[in-house]
Amino acid sequence: MKRVLVATGGGDCPGLNAVIRAIVKRAAQEKDWEVVGSIQSFDGILKEPTEIKILDDAAVKGIHYQGGTIIGTTTKGGPFAWPVKNKDGSWGSADRSDEMIRKLQYLGIDAVISIGGDGSQKISQSLYEKGLNIIGVPKTIDNDLSATDFTFGYQTAVQICTEAVDKLKTTAASHNRIFILEAMGRDAGWIALSAAIAGGAESCLIPEIPYDVKKIKEKLDTRFLKGKGFGIIVVAEGAMPKGGVALAEQSTEVGNTNLKLSGAADRLLIELKEAGVEADIRTTVLGHLQRGGIPLASDRVLATQFGVKAFEMVLEGKFGQMVAYRHPEVVGVPLLEAIGKQNLVDPKANLVKTAKGVGIAFGD
Ligand code: F6P
Repeated sequence: MKRVLVATGGGDCPGLNAVIRAIVKRAAQEKDWEVVGSIQSFDGILKEPTEIKILDDAAVKGIHYQGGTIIGTTTKGGPFAWPVKNKDGSWGSADRSDEMIRKLQYLGIDAVISIGGDGSQKISQSLYEKGLNIIGVPKTIDNDLSATDFTFGYQTAVQICTEAVDKLKTTAASHNRIFILEAMGRDAGWIALSAAIAGGAESCLIPEIPYDVKKIKEKLDTRFLKGKGFGIIVVAEGAMPKGGVALAEQSTEVGNTNLKLSGAADRLLIELKEAGVEADIRTTVLGHLQRGGIPLASDRVLATQFGVKAFEMVLEGKFGQMVAYRHPEVVGVPLLEAIGKQNLVDPKANLVKTAKGVGIAFGD
């Protein structure tokens, strides 16, 4: 019997379970393959005792519409930077990648499918360079991976964000208020931009287009006549004023080296007040609501395509590659290419033109 190990790493994302289910269902069509999941990304392999789970038909039954991941995930550490407590009580890190590869051999693992974002796929590439038979599956609600047209989870996040705009509109109109809605998107403004168009927001601020608050005020002024009116601004967490930077702080979680982005909406509120906006302003931070719940049908379809393709790439021995959607095909691309460049919103792109065409202000 041959064994493929599946791991989900980084922030969770609607559609992860649909990928896992698709891998298991496709593998079941081959007589000699067994699928096992490593619990909490590769931590399951590195922990003593080992935490792995057999993923058979029963384990994946009906999980395609469940959010989260049945094998857990983590944003802390990983095989190349395992958190280690120093003698003085501070935390450092150790490279346990060789040990992990040996453990995988001991467990009879023939191939690994690593489902994760940019950070996870960098780990996949490094493990591949050490000789591991590994395939990547891209995952991120931010849609910021350039090698694939889309990532699953993104459309679900856009839907959740759009529903929030819809809901804020009725309360904003009732109170003649401005609402600033902070969406996820640390480097790329895709979620904010799509939700602003779909929800009919007045302004949209994204990391790729630094804003001038005076321009946002001018737009809002057109929305208030004799004190009546309302406005919705969708701001990506990574947005920044011209000449400024995104607001971020170091995570206090042990082993989590990611910056934690927060405060874009609150900063904008202060800036608008300082610029002389008289209307009441409220802020709503959507946060992890965008990552939770049931994936949209389109994300389940994409996730299932990715799962089937990933297992077929294992059969074909296409290691060191990542699954990618290149309309209308699902293909394999070298991991090196996949981690090389982010998918950011081009300020000249059609989606930005469309938004401007319906009067959405970016403050540029
Ligand atoms: O990368 C996806 C993402 O959802 C970002 O948009 C956000 O900044 C980050 O994850 C939050 O991650 P965490 O779960 O570590 O707070």
